[in-house]
Amino acid sequence: MKKILVTGALGQIGSELVGKLRNLYGTEGVIATDILKRTSSEVASGPYEALDVTNGLAMFDIANKYGVDTIIHLAALLSATSEEKPVQAWQLNIGGLMNALEVSRSLGCQLFTPSSIAAFGPTTTKDHTPQETIQRPNSMYGVSKVAGELLCDYYYHKFGLDTRGLRFPGLISYVTLPGGGTTDYVVEMYIQAVARGKYTSYLSPGTFLDMMYMPDALDAIISIMEADGSKLKHRNAFNVSAMSIDPEMLAEAIRKHIPAFKVDYKPDPLRQAIADSWPNAIDSSASIEQWGFQVNYDLDQMTVEMLSHLAVKGN
Ligand code: SER
Repeated sequence: MKKILVTGALGQIGSELVGKLRNLYGTEGVIATDILKRTSSEVASGPYEALDVTNGLAMFDIANKYGVDTIIHLAALLSATSEEKPVQAWQLNIGGLMNALEVSRSLGCQLFTPSSIAAFGPTTTKDHTPQETIQRPNSMYGVSKVAGELLCDYYYHKFGLDTRGLRFPGLISYVTLPGGGTTDYVVEMYIQAVARGKYTSYLSPGTFLDMMYMPDALDAIISIMEADGSKLKHRNAFNVSAMSIDPEMLAEAIRKHIPAFKVDYKPDPLRQAIADSWPNAIDSSASIEQWGFQVNYDLDQMTVEMLSHLAVKGN
């Protein structure tokens, strides 16, 4: 039976992934960890430990205590926060990943960690961005993501560690809000559409970025972890995207349900600059070919779900 340690379990991905993994592999098979002592009801339904991922010994002790064979390392700062706190971003994003790699090496664990569309930069081809291309990001988050991709490749080639990863686009969910990201405007727009019927976007119209609805992202994590390793040519940092949208396309999709919805624009220089340095639309064909990546939600299907769930939540 699998024993999976999840770091950053109270974050945007972790808070939904833990429940899904527990359904698949059993409640006791998933050890949720986060820097916070308090737990949400979801992660509290099974083993939970407070863990600061920059403390490698503490990570080892927890992994060893539960006999884990898999680490899903999610704890990280997102792009806008990393730009404001670059030293902390490096220490958490790379320090935490190094600890996860070393614990995995010591205990022989399989390791998943997300990369991002932020691993590309202004000199990268913006459309149909290939799996392998120029990666010279100019944000601290992007720098940490490229370094993380290389570290995971290094541990695979040098030590035979079974490292796997995806370059996630903006992830959209109504359950746990994202924080400090550049793609967060999508979730904010849905929330404000339901709550106030209007939204001021911090990204300008025409800013195209890749996005994905959270259920597809969770399925992608499980698929890549369960994929036949012998078929993976890249192993780490696979491009995955479900849609490429800009704020106007999103507003139009919302207007199919809330016709009076209004959007105006007040670009935030920091997040606009980050968004402008990322691709418009990445090419996911390596993921489709090597491990059968697929998605179930396009923009319209995601919009129906987001609006109905947010209305029920009373946002
Ligand atoms: N969603 C992330 C961000 O905006 C990108 O990986 O920071």
